[in-house]
Amino acid sequence: MTAKVFRGSFIHSKTLDELEILEDAVLVVDSSGTITTFQQTDGDDIEALIPDNAESFRLGPGEFMIPGFVDTHNHAPQWPMRGLGQGLHILDWLDQVTFPVEARFADAAYARKTYENTVADFLRQGITTASYYGSRHAEATRILAEICLEKGQRAFVGKCNMDRNAPEYICEKSAHDSLQETKDCIEHIRQLPGCADGKLALVKPILTPRFAICCTPDLLQGLGDMMRADKTLTMQTHFNEAEQEIKATRDLFPEKAARSEADLYDSFGLLSSQSVLAHCTIMTDYDKDRIKELECGVAHCPIANMTVGGGFMAAPVRDFLRRGIKVGLGTDSGGGWASQMLGVIRQAMIASNAREVMSEGRDKGLQIEEAFYLATLGGAGVMSIQDQVGNFEVGKKFDAVLVSTTTDLQSAMTPREEDDSLRTVFEKFIMTGDDRNIAHVFVGGRRVAGTRSLWFEA
Ligand code: GUN
Ligand code: FE
Repeated sequence: MTAKVFRGSFIHSKTLDELEILEDAVLVVDSSGTITTFQQTDGDDIEALIPDNAESFRLGPGEFMIPGFVDTHNHAPQWPMRGLGQGLHILDWLDQVTFPVEARFADAAYARKTYENTVADFLRQGITTASYYGSRHAEATRILAEICLEKGQRAFVGKCNMDRNAPEYICEKSAHDSLQETKDCIEHIRQLPGCADGKLALVKPILTPRFAICCTPDLLQGLGDMMRADKTLTMQTHFNEAEQEIKATRDLFPEKAARSEADLYDSFGLLSSQSVLAHCTIMTDYDKDRIKELECGVAHCPIANMTVGGGFMAAPVRDFLRRGIKVGLGTDSGGGWASQMLGVIRQAMIASNAREVMSEGRDKGLQIEEAFYLATLGGAGVMSIQDQVGNFEVGKKFDAVLVSTTTDLQSAMTPREEDDSLRTVFEKFIMTGDDRNIAHVFVGGRRVAGTRSLWFEA
């Protein structure tokens, strides 16, 4: 890959509440896709910063770069059913809507065709890293990983584990089979070109017990043992999502889950700084303390929480942040109807306003800077890759979205006006823009998607 130099406006998060806005900066990406220079130009002579033979890109008026979005919770096989079954409670939604759709992924040809479109859609929306639940099918999950690699998306790909409490047509036959298929899948992903490195690979495996209700104790224990034996493995599951789920979990594990789902999953060795807990909507102080202690990350999925699963569920995100718990955002495609993170950012702000009211003003709503952080650097932290992506720090991989706000895009975005500051244009994009504004998407320095064809200066 040729080295690339970008000049123009850049916006990224340095911390939860510090958004850095640089109007005239230079960013250099080397041939391995790593950022080697990033600084304000201040009218300085920048020639010395530019490597020989680098391709040079200049961003135009109304254009700016942001880090790519990190989707911390996404069900790849549910992409074709987003928006269906709104209002159903979680276990009914799984039975009536979700399991029949996921069952189709037993067919490898269907999986390939659908996942091609799925991954392309998420990339087009600027999702440069996704943490995917596959279906329970090993072959379809291997195909998903291959497609992520081909299309150049940074991804965590997990074969879903579910060996009980699911209809026969989709339930796995035994914990043993489920564990063996999981091991095979991990091995397959790690032998894909460039994917051997447990930490730096573009596509990585992730353990994916659907949730405790669908897993026998033997299966949870086997997965916990795998996690303990391999410190590079991450794990994702659904956690304290809904009343119906919490009650069913207690009934199944009357001792272990009597007090807490954290105690339950921890008893199988599944919780660590590499664990991604989706939803966390109904949380006791005890569970908040436990996941903080165990350094787990939260995948906050506000669209799903307010539409399917069991009524109006707004996770206590401000309280998580106050306690120093890692938080990122997830589309939860298909519990969530969106395949884009812009919608999730907006809904996270709405959910946080609800929380502000529910807490009588104690838990303040999220500012746009904070919601943007959650969708980028915060999500990278949840996935334990904050030293690799999430912002434009030198040494990180160049995962980025070039946003264009020119009016010829006929986007739904509030129009950019001549005297708008860059900050105002950013706010207009985040709150009203869509994928038509996403001109180019880069992962590890490689252009992988976008509405425009690639341009460069001679
Ligand atoms: N809990 C178990 N499976 C699922 C799922 O597919 N989506 C959501 N939102 N919750 C779940
Ligand atoms: Fe989910």
